[in-house]
Amino acid sequence: KRLILIGPPGSGKGTQSPMIKDDYCLCHLATGDMLRAAVAAKTPLGIKAKEAMDKGELVSDDLVVGIIDEAMKKPSCQKGFILDGFPRTVVQAEKLDEMLEKQGTKIDKVLNFAIDDSILEERITGRWIHPSSGRTYHTKFAPPKVPGLDDVTGEPLIQRKDDTPAVLKSRLEAFHRQTEPVIDYYGSKGILANLPAEKPPKEVTSEVQKVLSS
Ligand code: AP5
Ligand code: ZN
Ligand code: ZN
Repeated sequence: KRLILIGPPGSGKGTQSPMIKDDYCLCHLATGDMLRAAVAAKTPLGIKAKEAMDKGELVSDDLVVGIIDEAMKKPSCQKGFILDGFPRTVVQAEKLDEMLEKQGTKIDKVLNFAIDDSILEERITGRWIHPSSGRTYHTKFAPPKVPGLDDVTGEPLIQRKDDTPAVLKSRLEAFHRQTEPVIDYYGSKGILANLPAEKPPKEVTSEVQKVLSS
């Protein structure tokens, strides 16, 4: 399957991705994760992306479209993929359609993580991540076995630089202004499925499974 996960910061896209990936053998392409890796490695791409990311603004369409175009060519992504955090503007959505058309494929489903803004600050400020695996924890909702350490590797967890209340505010503004139109774009194509993303993680997972098996 070829899937898109769309929703505001903290809505659970990254948390649900591993379950979907394991159930359907898809590759997980998260533009945010790829950009953070580029920033950490100080690549030319990372240097260009850092300023916008630190402010909670979107990186330019050309940069992210380039990353996705490159990543989708990987052999492991030929049978299907999950796009997490892409497309985030209507221009990105149109570019994606063009890329897929060239390959003779198309998106099967767009999962919209619908949730009220008021819940998101607590989710974002309590988040801890294991950078190399992408595993996500939360001090209250999904605590690691040992505080501050990854359950699998025992390596230290970190917090994201943009996970502050002030930067969250601009990320949410960007979502409402630039990304909500993308939800309408897929709604008009008839491939949109709305998920109740405020429910506990396991319930969201079973909603995802329901949508994907129907
Ligand atoms: P990105 O990394 O994509 O961040 P985001 O969209 O803001 O989304 P998050 O990763 O914050 O949220 P999530 O939905 O994955 O939440 P999670 O599952 O971790 O992008 C970062 C930046 O990169 C952007 O601001 C932009 O600058 C740039 N960028 C990326 N893509 C771009 C693009 N296409 N175009 C332009 N710029 C781009 O969950 C959050 C927390 O809540 C966790 O602690 C988790 O444990 C907890 N949690 C999850 N689900 C539940 C639940 N059901 N109940 C309780 N707690 C839960
Ligand atoms: Zn994420
Ligand atoms: Zn809105």
